[in-house]
Amino acid sequence: MKVKTLVLASSNNHKAKEIGMILGRNYQIKTQEEFGVPFVPENGKTFSENAYIKASQLAKNISIPVIADDSGLEVLSINNQPGIYSARYASIGATDEENINKLLGALKNRPSSERKAKFICSLVLIEGHDKQKVSYFNGEWKGEIANKKTGRHGFGYDPIFFVPSLKKTAAELSEEIKNKVSHRAIAINKLKNFLENQ
Ligand code: IMP
Repeated sequence: MKVKTLVLASSNNHKAKEIGMILGRNYQIKTQEEFGVPFVPENGKTFSENAYIKASQLAKNISIPVIADDSGLEVLSINNQPGIYSARYASIGATDEENINKLLGALKNRPSSERKAKFICSLVLIEGHDKQKVSYFNGEWKGEIANKKTGRHGFGYDPIFFVPSLKKTAAELSEEIKNKVSHRAIAINKLKNFLENQ
């Protein structure tokens, strides 16, 4: 099979590597930075709108198929917050630690029934000569917000995202395991399936 190149609308090399690992060796992932295309503000109201905003800006400027993802954490008992604001929940430019502390504070003394959460990932692919072909792939990963941080792997809310079926937080999982079960892995595997059946 010929290696297929996809350009990720992001400057996040970690994300590009993760997507590359899940898609496997028949795919090469490049990033927006390599093409010098400027980034646009993510001002959508949903994960999929934000993914589309990022991808379409890049797709206008290059002729290779483009992918973009947008992801975050939703906690049911607090109106699905932090949602699309996950990266800037505590403030613009907040650290993971600040976002985690704000969420732990919002859920303080809440029983486990009110700590149900899910990570969401919306991935978009834009392809075709005129870049008119837009496809969406979504992934969800269910868990609970723990009372305290545990684990050293991963990023973002991983240390407080407890996965009952694995009895571990996402930050206690190896990269290999997380890449099999996460919201992003689910969405990326759907994309892979789609590309392989085209
Ligand atoms: P992005 O859209 O993928 O950059 O993610 C936005 C924010 O959602 C990140 O800054 C994290 O706070 C949170 N997030 C998304 N995916 C994960 C994950 O796999 N683990 C922990 N936090 C995540």
